[in-house]
Amino acid sequence: MKSNIASLPYTLTLKGRDLVTWLDYTVEEVHELLKLSQYLKKNPRSKSLEGKTLGMIFEKSSTRTRVSFEAGMLQMGGHAIYLNSRDIQLGRGESIEDTARVLSSYVDGIMIRTFETEKVTQLASFSSVPVINGLCDTYHPCQALADVLTILETKGTLKGVKVVYIGDGNNVAHSFMILCAKLGMDVVVSCPKGYEPREDIIGKTVDLALESGGSFTLNYDPVEAVKGADVVYTDVWASMGQEQEAFKRLEDFKGYQVNEELLDHASSDVTFLHCLPAHREEEVTAAVIDGPCSAVFQQAENRLHVQKAILQSVL
Ligand code: CP
Ligand code: NVA
Repeated sequence: MKSNIASLPYTLTLKGRDLVTWLDYTVEEVHELLKLSQYLKKNPRSKSLEGKTLGMIFEKSSTRTRVSFEAGMLQMGGHAIYLNSRDIQLGRGESIEDTARVLSSYVDGIMIRTFETEKVTQLASFSSVPVINGLCDTYHPCQALADVLTILETKGTLKGVKVVYIGDGNNVAHSFMILCAKLGMDVVVSCPKGYEPREDIIGKTVDLALESGGSFTLNYDPVEAVKGADVVYTDVWASMGQEQEAFKRLEDFKGYQVNEELLDHASSDVTFLHCLPAHREEEVTAAVIDGPCSAVFQQAENRLHVQKAILQSVL
């Protein structure tokens, strides 16, 4: 059944916009996307992208991003093309500029998962269609929107919620802290020395928190950090591309595992989040990720709903 587009909770237009990082979006725009995500979660068969095609370039592995983008396009009446960089000419040295120009003449939007953020921004600048960042070394914006939707669903509100990210100051941490601070949450990051989020991103997060009435704190002590936490989030200690550092990181992150003992210091109704894939007994114990406070599968499902909202808005 076609949805009644006029009834969609949607007033700001984001048509044609790229999504590289939430730093480029206003609070109002993020709230619109969250409202639309909630609407699409309730109305999953809304056929709002009939005849539209999304090209999806992957230079790194993926389960959730690949399948949720493809399923989302199909559910909305559109189509997605999986483009592994090993199989397309980009992987043999064709330039981003030429790839962008050519793909723009075939598809209505491009999603890319890659290493350098510059590749995403270059692709965006040479494409005449919107480009969505499906993860790069610095950001994972689609993940962060799903995280925030899950927080809204589990806590009923966003402003004033205390969210604590424990672990590596990586792409997931960056997008999570930016978006949570933008939306007025009290954000705490706890990591070993040397694994902090990027300094410039901390600076931007602090500015966002000042504007929104939220806060940002870096606390090297995970026990102190989680005190009173409404949400505790972690991610793998070695991200894609850091495989050769995995052994050293196991040592360096000792003491930063999210386990039941650590969560005893959090709020009694704490929600545990993880972007997945997870390494049980490394960054999180099975007792926590498979336990009653974990919302990780709801969070993974929400990738589908938020990406449908993003696609419907920008394509
Ligand atoms: N969380 C996430 O992006 O998962 P994938 O790597 O499976 O896409
Ligand atoms: N930080 C992880 C996230 C995977 C979804 C990585 O980049 O590998």
